[in-house]
Amino acid sequence: MDIKITKTAHPKEKPDQKALGFGKYMSDHMFLMDYTEGIGWHDARIVPYAPIPMDPGAVALHYAQETFEGLKAYRTAEGKIQLFRPEMNARRMINSNRRLCMPPFPEDMFIEAVKAIVTVDADWVPSAPGASLYIRPFMFTTECQLSLHNSKEFLFCIICSPSGAYYEEGINPVKILVEDEYVRAVKGGTGFAKCGGNYAGAMIGQEKAEAMGYSQVLWLDGQERKYVEEVGGMNIMFKINGEIWTAPCEGTVLPGVTRDSMITILKEWGYNVREERLSIDDLMAYCEKGQVEEIFGTGTAAVISPVGVLNYRGNVQTINNNEIGELSLKLYTYLTDLQWGRIPDTHGWIVPVC
Ligand code: COI
Repeated sequence: MDIKITKTAHPKEKPDQKALGFGKYMSDHMFLMDYTEGIGWHDARIVPYAPIPMDPGAVALHYAQETFEGLKAYRTAEGKIQLFRPEMNARRMINSNRRLCMPPFPEDMFIEAVKAIVTVDADWVPSAPGASLYIRPFMFTTECQLSLHNSKEFLFCIICSPSGAYYEEGINPVKILVEDEYVRAVKGGTGFAKCGGNYAGAMIGQEKAEAMGYSQVLWLDGQERKYVEEVGGMNIMFKINGEIWTAPCEGTVLPGVTRDSMITILKEWGYNVREERLSIDDLMAYCEKGQVEEIFGTGTAAVISPVGVLNYRGNVQTINNNEIGELSLKLYTYLTDLQWGRIPDTHGWIVPVC
């Protein structure tokens, strides 16, 4: 791919690495590439970070034809920069795009584009403990058209945001509200795709949870509101009687990169991982019997997010004394050690950048 690079004449001041938060600051540059039907992908470029001019009639603004991804660049103790399983993000975006009738962005081009923008903005990859450069590839229709037809013009972009921990409170247990009114996904819908529309539709649950003093929502299946599926921005796992349960990826759950990595690691550590449907009633009954040892969310942004409190219809259960569980901490330590290059990569998951 021939990438035209135009560097900014006005580099921004870098934020304090100890107060980055998540997704608040943007780096100096962005990657852009256009798609036109009949031509394909063209004009790969890295340009100074700036607003993108949009036609007010662009399909993305009206009919949400948009997909996105999330991955991170990590700075090792030696000062090198590396990615974690970027091919998984590339493949997931292809699947998301297929569902939203958008052209695939080829895997090799995806990885090349990510490496290129991270290399140009290498000095934006933080070195503070736990901080990384969050990379947000996204794609949308630029075409002006109000009738409901598929589009012929798209833009693929990558922006980067130096970020600290996803939760300001750190890796402390979070309080989760089980949502039984609204639903996030149904079979045949877009639940498995990483598209903005899924998150827009889920916002109301998040707002409701926050108003009640909870930090995330646990979504139940859209058909029966019976089986646990995923948390706001993450997949979720339950350690019950020594076994690990997590919802199967059967069309309604996002196939998370961290989820997949955790399952692989847990199996290697000898755990029985049950990718099976678990009903909320069974989960609450296990909680009441003290058999739920740990609950944790898994995602790129938050890595691991232990759950300390679960509320379903006013039945409030405290998990593991509202403390981070032994397994959650072991998984968090193992995965972050791998991502930051502190232990050998025996899985072939690390992709060096520069
Ligand atoms: C990620 O973990 O990368 C995500 O995309 C979650 C996002 C909704 C914050």
